[in-house]
Amino acid sequence: MKLKRLGFLASGRGSNMQAVIDAVKAKQLDAEPCVVISNNSTSGAMQRARKEGIPSYHLSSRTHPVPEELDAAIMNTLVSHRVDLVILAGYMKKIGAKTLARFRNRILNIHPALLPKFGGKGMYGSRVHEAVLAAGETETGVSMHIVDGEYDTGPIVAQTRLPVRKDDTVESLSKRVLSREHSFLVETLQKIVSGGLILPRA
Ligand code: GRF
Repeated sequence: MKLKRLGFLASGRGSNMQAVIDAVKAKQLDAEPCVVISNNSTSGAMQRARKEGIPSYHLSSRTHPVPEELDAAIMNTLVSHRVDLVILAGYMKKIGAKTLARFRNRILNIHPALLPKFGGKGMYGSRVHEAVLAAGETETGVSMHIVDGEYDTGPIVAQTRLPVRKDDTVESLSKRVLSREHSFLVETLQKIVSGGLILPRA
């Protein structure tokens, strides 16, 4: 089965999602961004979706105070847009049991470090790069993994490495890793849609 119809869950700026949309428009990626879901109604991701004409939905504990109902709403939204593959592009919430079951092995997260190091609750944004520098690592990278019910713990499907330079700051490292994330996400998705990278059975 082709995994072309992409659904995004994003909480923030949405630059990774934008990189995918741009690659699709440039015909570098044979996929179709179909829907964007955000827990933050004013997020950059929601604004980008509107600008691109991609259906977008604010689904959060505000719209659905009962967690099971929020989970069902997220799952139904993905299903109704016939999504094959879900991308967590800076999504800060856990995925509920119903969505996980319906999209088993079909939800991917991108993380700005070499998991299993520097992942888990609270490890997001500049905190990741702060921790990498504080640990004196000589390399960092980008990981893509299958999402389970925890933060940053599912099986890794793709990783790329980047050197940490002696004079790196949190800012310089964040910038370099983010730029690599954009290309790596597109490359990895293209491998998945073309069958060069096979995900575990759904
Ligand atoms: C990225 O660093 C991604 O790896 C992490 O959250 C950040 C999202 O950035 N999960 P953006 O919203 O795609 O710009």
